[in-house]
Amino acid sequence: MADTLLIRHPASGAETELTITDASIRAAELRRFNIGGEPLATFDPGFTNTAACHSAITYIDGDAGVLEYRGYPIATLAEHSTYLEVAYLLLNGELPTATELTAWEDRITTHRRVPEELKTVLAGFPASAHPMTILMSSVAAFFSFYPDARNFDDPASRSRAIARLIAKMPTLAAYAFRKGRGEAYVAPEDDLGYCANFLHMLFAQPDRPYEEHQHLVRAMEVLFILHADHEQNCSTNAVRSVASSGNDLFTCCSAGIGALHGPLHGGANEAVLKMLREIGSVDRVGEFIEGVKAGRTRMMGFGHRVYKNYDPRAKIIKSSVEDVFEITGVNPLLKIALELERYGLDDEYFVSRRLYPNVDFYSGLIYEALGFPPEMFTVLFAVPRASGWAAQYQEFITDPEQKIARPKQIYTGHSTRDYVPIGARG
Ligand code: ACO
Repeated sequence: MADTLLIRHPASGAETELTITDASIRAAELRRFNIGGEPLATFDPGFTNTAACHSAITYIDGDAGVLEYRGYPIATLAEHSTYLEVAYLLLNGELPTATELTAWEDRITTHRRVPEELKTVLAGFPASAHPMTILMSSVAAFFSFYPDARNFDDPASRSRAIARLIAKMPTLAAYAFRKGRGEAYVAPEDDLGYCANFLHMLFAQPDRPYEEHQHLVRAMEVLFILHADHEQNCSTNAVRSVASSGNDLFTCCSAGIGALHGPLHGGANEAVLKMLREIGSVDRVGEFIEGVKAGRTRMMGFGHRVYKNYDPRAKIIKSSVEDVFEITGVNPLLKIALELERYGLDDEYFVSRRLYPNVDFYSGLIYEALGFPPEMFTVLFAVPRASGWAAQYQEFITDPEQKIARPKQIYTGHSTRDYVPIGARG
């Protein structure tokens, strides 16, 4: 149903009526109204109120703390599904039948290995390289090994690139992890499921195969499901933006990995652990909170652009913390985290700004207990997000409404001026 909105230009007072369709104003509508020589535009740094696409993949109601993939609540999927089942759902719009799931799992298993030549590229990184840098470069390098990805308009080529990406992300991540520890690579094991194989490639030793623990494999499946997609966040926006100039999936996802690396996005769980270590003990939490309120620092793992309520993913992660700690032993930083959360949920500063724990608040504690160093945390976010990026990429590529991403600016620089030769500049 269309409605109208009356807009008055602040300087000239000229008025114009805009049509509102399905709760949005189309940019083309705004551009039609040319007041004072300039078409109307929105000024929206960070796109806090600008929709750049229609999407049928993920639904978030930030006020209510709701997250759904293709209409299924995240808690239901986390309870009943595997990560690959959810990846199938994101990509195809429907949950797979048992036969479809087996075929999809088999397809992913056949693509797990990375090209031999890529291993020499991986070996060339310094031992100190951040695993996200290794992941980002290797995913970009995939395009040189699988140039067929450029045929993204062909559904078969596109689907092959997607399967390759999802299958090889854990292999790359495990290689990056082992490189940091100076350990030899471990090849994928075809008999193991997606998450069990990932744990095997990460932790198996020549004299000691990785001992599979069902609770830990399940915890990894749940973490992967929670991180699989989150509609138009910073990294997904990067993927779509790079796709908009006509790029292959690997180049786009490499950009997504770069965006995810930042501490305000996927890097936050690494920052949470750093923060907890700096606080050091429960009795210093009050002092830390005072510093946050005075604007000296941020409480990492708190606050979200979209959620103005408890992040539903944080709730699920918090509930698996105890299961994991039962097997791995309790992470002593948990007490500090719980005390921080208690303050945060009670204190006027956080309550009035509607700042709640986000997905990163507890995930780092679990990852550390599982034996990962902090620099791997964002990698553990990127591996499952590959399915979300791939689904969003596919939706973008097949969306006739989409165009090359090219935001407007409001120019604040000099007006045209005379060039002064270098000898005459004072
Ligand atoms: N600690 C203290 N104050 C905060 C925090 C925080 N974590 N987050 C927001 N605020 C305050 C801001 O200072 C601001 O206060 P003001 O109105 O007095 O100036 C107000 O809350 C609004 O904050 P914005 O920065 O405008 O909110 P925005 O939506 O732009 O930022 C973000 C969201 C980046 C996630 C922010 O909350 C933050 O920096 N959080 C910590 C980092 C983090 O945990 N990131 C992970 C997000 S989840 C993910 O990416 C997977």
